[in-house]
Formats: sequence, structure tokens, C-alpha cells
Amino acid sequence: MDSKEVAGWVKDAQAAFLSAGDLDELKSARLAHMGDKAPISLASRSLGSLSPDEKASFGKVIGDAKAQIASALDSATKKLENIRDQKVLLEEVVDITLPASRMHRGGLHPISIIKNEISDFFIEQGFSVAEGPEMESGWLNFDALNIPADHPARTMQDTFFIEPLESGMVLRTQTSPVQIRTMLTQEPPIYIISPGRTFRADELDATHSPVFHQVEGLVVDRGITMAHLKGTLDNFAQHMFGADVTTRLRPSFFPFTEPSAEIDIFFNGRWIEWGGCGMVNPKVLQTCGIDTDIFTGFAFGMGLERTLMVRHGITDMHDIVEGDLRFTRQFGMGL
Ligand code: DAH
Repeated sequence: MDSKEVAGWVKDAQAAFLSAGDLDELKSARLAHMGDKAPISLASRSLGSLSPDEKASFGKVIGDAKAQIASALDSATKKLENIRDQKVLLEEVVDITLPASRMHRGGLHPISIIKNEISDFFIEQGFSVAEGPEMESGWLNFDALNIPADHPARTMQDTFFIEPLESGMVLRTQTSPVQIRTMLTQEPPIYIISPGRTFRADELDATHSPVFHQVEGLVVDRGITMAHLKGTLDNFAQHMFGADVTTRLRPSFFPFTEPSAEIDIFFNGRWIEWGGCGMVNPKVLQTCGIDTDIFTGFAFGMGLERTLMVRHGITDMHDIVEGDLRFTRQFGMGL
């Protein structure tokens, strides 16, 4: 071992570090030229067996060589780290001029929008919004509303019955059972509306859907007359269809109201049937334990799909049911 040999190790190491193409290659070069088995390391370990003089002179040679190798490694490391960082920066560069991929914001269905609009209108007048279950007892959906067992609405044709049939449960065919639920649990004065989903065994066509929505209104208080009903419906119609809409009540029949009427609106140059209404049948009030000597009431009910179709000139129920965004978007996002 002489100083020439040591200088050769230094050169070898410097050349190996210089030719390393990346940090992995540099690591192998480092192990080969500075690791435990590298010649410089072996020489360094053998210093102990030399005489004190040799130790002093060779120790310095080896120390200097190690410092040179370490400094070569240091500059090679810096160079290769720099190259790696540049590469990462290039690879991860974000082109802020590229068009963004758009996230579509969710929106409410027009039926929900009109339901909220109606709820807000009545809440402003002191009404509460009452809800009832979509699966309802036949007693609440029919009997308590004075719809007798032989009424055509109860036949298999119109009503979805829940199995087993002895359960007496149905999918509610109207929101009117919420009237009964409210009168059974609250004392008058009662001012509620009840929007919600209703079900009838109809085929889906341009004007029918087996699943549709109604809004029910019920007022029970002292001295309620048909004038209150007419006034309430007039305001409601104007709110929904514009200030110049005209309404008329046409005599009709519903088992749960007496007298009963259809409410028609004169809209876009013609009379259109909008919903049903009347004074709550005293029989119904009595079924709910309300004293008919003190209290009278009115009720009304109309379809939300129908209201929407009339107001916006929608001619096909499919558009409302199918949820096509091209249709829905026309009503705004309504969030
Ligand atoms: N429930 C009736 C229907 O589905 C609509 C209705 C008519 C509701 C008159 C009422 C009412 O509250 O008074 O055809």
C-alpha cells in the first residue's frame, strides 16, 4: 500500500461518482468506494497494525483521500438531487390554462320547488306544515273521511293495497288522511297544509302517474265559513298563477266535505279545474272528537303535478316523472 495506490482509489471513486446517472447508481458507487469493503476502508482499518511512524504518515494520506472521496460524493449527490428535483417539477407541472372539468351542482326537482313555494306561502299566513306516512291505514285513508266501504275509490283498480290484505294498510290515495291525523291529535284552532306523495293504480300516461303529489289544506276554528275558503283559495290561486287569475267554485261532491266544490281557475283564456274543496263534513269532525256546535272547518286539496303543468304549459306528465335534466334545469336550481 503506497500513496500512489491511494491516489488511484480516489480517482476511481471520483470517476464512479461522476458517471452515476441517478441517485440509485450513486448509492451503489458509494458502497463500492466508501463501504466497509472498499479498499480505502480496508486500508483505514489496517492502520492499527503499522508502526507509529508509518501510522502517522499513512494516516494522513488516508485521511486526505477519504476527505476527497467524501467531497466528490457530496458534489455528485448535490448535482443528481438537483436533476431529480427539476424532473419532478417538470412532471408535476400544472397547466392552469387547461379547461377545468366542471362539477355539476345539484338542484331541486320542480315538484320540490313548487312544494316549497306553496309551503312558504301558507307558513307566512300562520299555517303549519303537517306530514303523514305514505303507507296509511285504510281507516284513515277512507273510513274516517266518510268514504264508505263500497266507494269505487276503494276497489283494486284505484288503490294499492299492502299485503297481507288483512293488514288493512294501503298506499295513501290522497293527502286527506293527514286531516284526520291532525284533528285526532290537535285541538282547534287548526291551520295546516299537508303536501306529500300519493299513489293510485293508474298507468303512466300524458296526464296520469301512479305516484303523484297533492297538497291538502285544513282549517278548523270558530265561525269558519265558505267565504274564508273562497278568500284563501283566491289568494292561493293568485300566488300560484298571477294576480289577474280568476277563480270559481263549482258544486261537486266529496264524502268528507259538505257542501263540496271544485275550484276552477281562468288561466290563459280558459277555465281549468284545479282541485277539490268544501266545508269539512260534520261527520268527519265528529269522528275526530271535535264539537260541531263550536267549530266548523274548510278543506281543499289539489295535485302538485297538475298545478305545475297548468302554470308552465307542460303537456306531458312523463317530463315531470322522468327527471331529465334538460327539463328540470328550466325551473332553475332552486336550492
Ligand atoms: N282528496 C281529494 C282527491 O284526492 C281532493 C280533495 C277534495 C281534498 C276536497 C280536500 C277536499 O281536502 O276538501 O281527489
